[in-house]
Amino acid sequence: MPPFQIQYCTLADGYTIASNNVKAFWTDQTWRCTFATSTRDVVAHNSGLRGASNLLRDRAHRRHLMAVDVETGEIVGYARWLLPRAGCSADDDDPCHKIWTEARTADPSEEQRKEAEDGAAKSQFAVLMQGNTLPDVDAPIEKMFERLPRKRETYMQLDYLAVPEEYRGKGIATMLVRRGLEEAERLGFDSGVLAFRAALQVYLKAGYQIVDEVHTDASYGGGEKDYGAWFMVKCLEKE
Ligand SMILES: CC(C)(COP(=O)(O)OP(=O)(O)OC[C@H]1O[C@@H](n2cnc3c(N)ncnc32)[C@H](O)[C@@H]1OP(=O)(O)O)[C@@H](O)C(=O)NCCC(=O)NCCS
Repeated sequence: MPPFQIQYCTLADGYTIASNNVKAFWTDQTWRCTFATSTRDVVAHNSGLRGASNLLRDRAHRRHLMAVDVETGEIVGYARWLLPRAGCSADDDDPCHKIWTEARTADPSEEQRKEAEDGAAKSQFAVLMQGNTLPDVDAPIEKMFERLPRKRETYMQLDYLAVPEEYRGKGIATMLVRRGLEEAERLGFDSGVLAFRAALQVYLKAGYQIVDEVHTDASYGGGEKDYGAWFMVKCLEKE
């Protein structure tokens, strides 16, 4: 049996997924500047507190996958996909609710919803971000989105990908990406992703192609000298 398996997420997984995500991104020097005055574990805990509530956001379009270590049951990776949502309403009547339903967070009970809201209310995540030493670092990326030949909302986007440091280099991210791409192909959607350097090879190997890129000197605030971001697409037919 392969050591890792791709599974769908439940609200009970929310804390671990969200705290793991912070631990994973903490190895990104520029991202870490968002929380310059806090420690990794404090940020991870506060992210965890709002994990369930995050899984309940925009259920019409967000789809969640996690990788699990089959032997230990530990969650070792996470990917969030966004269904194309140009022109959608995101409310309860949105027809997107019916697409790829297995990866959509299940309808919560009143008790689960309340628990998720209470957790999010306790989280200091947004407060911790006030230490950000690079508040403008994403502005060039937003400019890149504006000049793209096609709006990124028209793609099924890989919106988030994270594997904790101790599990890297074992093909876990590749498995998560491939699983989502299989679904995109089945549904007939082109896929897009905003890539950061650590994931560039993973996406190139999965068949994404670079459409545009920006490089920013983020060293003034403690980030990388060459902070790169790439918009990449994988289309069913050549664009
Ligand atoms: C990017 C990430 C998800 C990859 O996870 P993973 O499970 O180790 O990926 P895989 O094992 O499937 O593939 C690893 C590939 O990524 C490359 N890679 C890993 N870390 C890298 C880094 N810091 N810089 C450049 N390449 C890196 C490896 O060289 C490897 O490529 P290779 O097989 O050609 O040698 C993980 O490093 C991570 O969570 N990083 C921090 C968060 C992040 O940047 N997420 C992506 C946002 S777009």
